[in-house]
Formats: sequence, structure tokens, C-alpha cells
Amino acid sequence: MTAAAAARYHLAPGGRIAGTLTVPGDKSISHRALMLGALAQGVTHISGFLAGEDCLATARALQALGVRIEWPGTGEVRVHGAGARGLTASGVPLDMGNAGTAMRLMMGVLAAEPFESTLVGDDSLMRRPMERVAVPLRLMGAEILTQDGHAPVRMRGTRALRALEYALPVASAQVKSAILLAALRAHGCTRLTEPAPSRDHTERMLRTFGVQVRQSGATISLEGGQPLKAAPLEVPADFSSAAFFIVAACLAAKEPVLIRNVGINPTRTGLLEILRAMGADIRVHAPAVQASEPRADLEVRMSGLRGIEVPEALVPLSIDEFPVLFVAAACASGETLVRGAQELRVKESDRLAAMAAGLTVLGIENRLLPDGLWLRGATSFSGGTIDSRGDHRIAMAFAVAALRAREPLEILDVANVATSFPGFLDTAQAAGLQIRLA
Ligand code: S3P
Repeated sequence: MTAAAAARYHLAPGGRIAGTLTVPGDKSISHRALMLGALAQGVTHISGFLAGEDCLATARALQALGVRIEWPGTGEVRVHGAGARGLTASGVPLDMGNAGTAMRLMMGVLAAEPFESTLVGDDSLMRRPMERVAVPLRLMGAEILTQDGHAPVRMRGTRALRALEYALPVASAQVKSAILLAALRAHGCTRLTEPAPSRDHTERMLRTFGVQVRQSGATISLEGGQPLKAAPLEVPADFSSAAFFIVAACLAAKEPVLIRNVGINPTRTGLLEILRAMGADIRVHAPAVQASEPRADLEVRMSGLRGIEVPEALVPLSIDEFPVLFVAAACASGETLVRGAQELRVKESDRLAAMAAGLTVLGIENRLLPDGLWLRGATSFSGGTIDSRGDHRIAMAFAVAALRAREPLEILDVANVATSFPGFLDTAQAAGLQIRLA
């Protein structure tokens, strides 16, 4: 076992949550800010950037492609745009680490580049499906080889990229965004239809950079050849990181907990609707919009939660929050059922299997379904040793579960928490979780 895989959390049972919290910048928006900044004309100033391992992988890949990036201060990034034709071939494979977003969106960027690129990642990323992006990009004219559908991805793009009419087979913002990034430099108008809405950060940021993106019902259209003009970007705090403390506060707030400046783009906040339907008390204060992205302070009070049947339409709008939502459901009265969530099986881990296994360790009755999970909540549960499977969100979700445990919890293989939430340990301790690295 490597030293990183051996990193584990120890949690004492119980604890109360309090205070005003700040969580790091949004991961999805930070990736996109770097990539669009790299393709723009001019210098893009980013503040609130997430300096987590995933976004740093994107930054390093862009640097390997010739983009100049400066780091003037904490959370501050200056991207010197290379323009539509300024990227140059990397002499080495681009290592995307644990980051699915980095690999898939970068494939969209590279589809218009007439040189060879190889994209690799860690063991988890090398197991995740890449054909969902390769198929539409090939239809546009890029040459792409995967290995049984997985990375390493070997590709050669083209300046003669063709626009595409495409119905996405899955509601995936990563696939949609990869195609939109390619479409920017394709000849003609690309039209995409989504089976259900997915996060729309790419569309919003493209508009901030002066690109016309049209939306008509489920269809998004983009005319190729439009230039990107650098624009200042303020990245809000990541709703998906805030989610751990939203649920923690629902379970154990000793006083109202405030989480500041959180991104509340409606394509991300399905968890708020689900938790409110379960009986949560979550209030939104000081809403504002900057660079097309809404944000607000969230105030959360402790409340008794009831299990529910989660509406399938909310699944893509809360896709990264299911690990911690299952913890909320484990603490709720009655049964919770999630269906239509098969995408969870191809995230950083098989999140349905990882959560079912961890909940079983805690003594929570549950049934793993091909596309979801059923479980029965309990007022408290046992402790034990939980394998996060190297998945950041599984590790953080079970840290929250300790609030209702009767015994200590050990969570294994937690180093990847740094991919999305550097400083989680400090924030969790300050909030009231009795957590330490073991
Ligand atoms: C992301 C989209 C989601 C999400 C991932 C980030 C993005 O993936 O799970 O963490 O930034 O576009 P899918 O769109 O593939 O579901």
C-alpha cells in the first residue's frame, strides 16, 4: 500500500456543528475557467479558484500545451490566453490524475488541435468510461483511440472539425461540455440535445467570454468560430463541498450554521430540494450573481429528517451529493429510495456499491439496486472501519456520519479528499467534527 493510500481519518462519535464556514472554490467552474481562459484572447483573472489536485492537473496540462499561467496569490490565477490557435503539442502524456472533468473536457479542447496528445490518469480515472466523449468527437472529425473504452486516450485533432447534431445518450455535463469546447472551433453550428438538464457552467461561462450559446428547450446550439474574450471570473464556493456541512448541520447543528458565498446554480442544487422534502430547514441569504453564476450564504438549522423517494428528475442536479445524501437518509426516519442513479457507478468509485458497503458496516439496513439504493434510517448507528475506495466524496460523507455514531469510525484511503476539498480536516474540526488524521 502506498503512503497516500494509507492515509485515514479517525472520528470520535457524536459532536455538534456550529459557526460560520467557508469552503473552497467550485471545482467544475475552476476547470472551465482555466480551459476557456487558455483559449481566449487576453488575460483571464480568476479569483476564488480551487487549488485542489484535480484543477491543478488541468493547469499543468495546459502549461504542457504552452499556456502561461501565473499564481499571484491564494485563490488567484492569471491565465494568458493562447487564442484559438495558440496551443502547442506536449512532449509528454498529459496526466489528469483523479479528474474525470479534466480528462473529458480536455479531449474537447484537443479535438481542434492538429497534433497528437496522450491523456492518462490514476487507477480510478483509467477505469472510467471515455467512449462517451470519444464517440461524438470522432463524428466531428477527431481521431481518438481508447483502450477498451478507457484511458490512455491517444488522439489527434483537426482544424477541419465539423459541427455536430447530437442527442446525448446520458445527462452528462462532462460530455456536453467536451462537445461544446470542440464546437467552438468547428465549422458550422453544433446542436446538442440533453435527455435531462445537467450543470450548465460551460454555457454560462462561454457567454461571459462573449460567445453566443442558444438554448431552446433541451437543445443547445453554438456557432463555431466565435472568439473568446478574456473576462474576470470570481469562482463561488463549491456547493458540492458545502453539501457535507449542509447535511452535518441538518443532523447536529447546535445553533444556525452559516456557509458563505456558495454557488447556487439551479443545475447544482438538487440536494436542497431533496433535503427540504425530507424536512430540512435551509435558508438562502444575500443572493447575488457574478460572472453569470448565482451564489448566496446558506443558513442551516438542525431538523428531524424523514426518508423519501427521491424524484428521478433531481438525480443529475444532485449527482455528486448522493454519498452525503445517503448519510442524511441513514439518519432519517423511515425509508429512502433512489433510482435512476446508475451514473454513480462510474464516478471516482462505484459510489452505489461503496455507500452500500459502508452503510452495512454501520448497521444500516440497505439494498443495492442496479441504478440506486434503498435504505432504512436509524436514530443512531455503530462505528467501524469504512473503505472510502480512494473516493474523496465517500470519505467526507462517512466523516459526517460519525455525528450519529455510537462508536469511533476509521475511514481508509482518504488522501484524495485533496482533489476537491483541500483543508477539509481543518474546516471539519472548526465546524465541530471530532476528526483527525490517523
Ligand atoms: C462535472 C459533471 C458531473 C460531475 C463531476 C463534475 C463537470 O459529471 O459528477 O463531478 O464539471 O462537468 P457528469 O456530467 O459526467 O455526470
